[in-house]
Amino acid sequence: MKTPLYAPSMMSADLLHLEDCIRRIEPISDVLHFDIMDGHFAPSLTCSPDMIRAVRGATSLPLDAHLMVSDPVRFTDLCIAAGADYITLHAETIVTNAFRTISVIKAAGRKAGVALTPATPVSALSHYLDLVDLVTVMTVDIGYGGQKLIPQMLPKISELAAVRAERGLHFTIMTDGGVGWKTYRSMLDAGADMLVLGKGLFRPEMTLDESIERWADIKRGVDRSEE
Ligand code: DX5
Ligand code: ZN
Repeated sequence: MKTPLYAPSMMSADLLHLEDCIRRIEPISDVLHFDIMDGHFAPSLTCSPDMIRAVRGATSLPLDAHLMVSDPVRFTDLCIAAGADYITLHAETIVTNAFRTISVIKAAGRKAGVALTPATPVSALSHYLDLVDLVTVMTVDIGYGGQKLIPQMLPKISELAAVRAERGLHFTIMTDGGVGWKTYRSMLDAGADMLVLGKGLFRPEMTLDESIERWADIKRGVDRSEE
């Protein structure tokens, strides 16, 4: 099995003790993931550019702003100013301005990501796939942590990986939603490189350190999918 990259989701972290939480997860983290919702495109209100700005001062890990908002242009500017390294736009929100918005991100020296809701096909990205650094396949409907993986998303991950190979591209494939000890392996086998860890990492039934240890084992190549 290939070595997975991890992007813990700050939405599910202990917000009252966020700095302590970040210190603990830093050793297993490759990116920190921030779900930014506006109550319109996605039903909830969660992380914000100000939260990114605060965390920027506390870690050198790359920060990913996952923009689940109706006005991604405005939030792109705010997240660039806050210090996000990846700006991840939803394909459904940039139908009229994908190229301009991606070029704003690139001009600021940041990495451009694009996310697909479960109902949006891989083909929606075909005209700008060569411009992005990251593609996030939503493996649950957007809006909440703790949902179950939609199994139809596994062939979608494989399709994206096949398109990447065919076209000789190098973007990272991230999966977001429902990543846990029973699902991570199927996502990696389908072609995912980076896993967003929400409720699969921040679990009420065990300490964060125990959960971190188990995800660390998986990164070291120990198969813990059947437990
Ligand atoms: C959902 C968010 C996810 C969320 C995943 O709209 O984009 O990043 O944190 O949470 P889990 O891993 O609990 O499904
Ligand atoms: Zn997300």
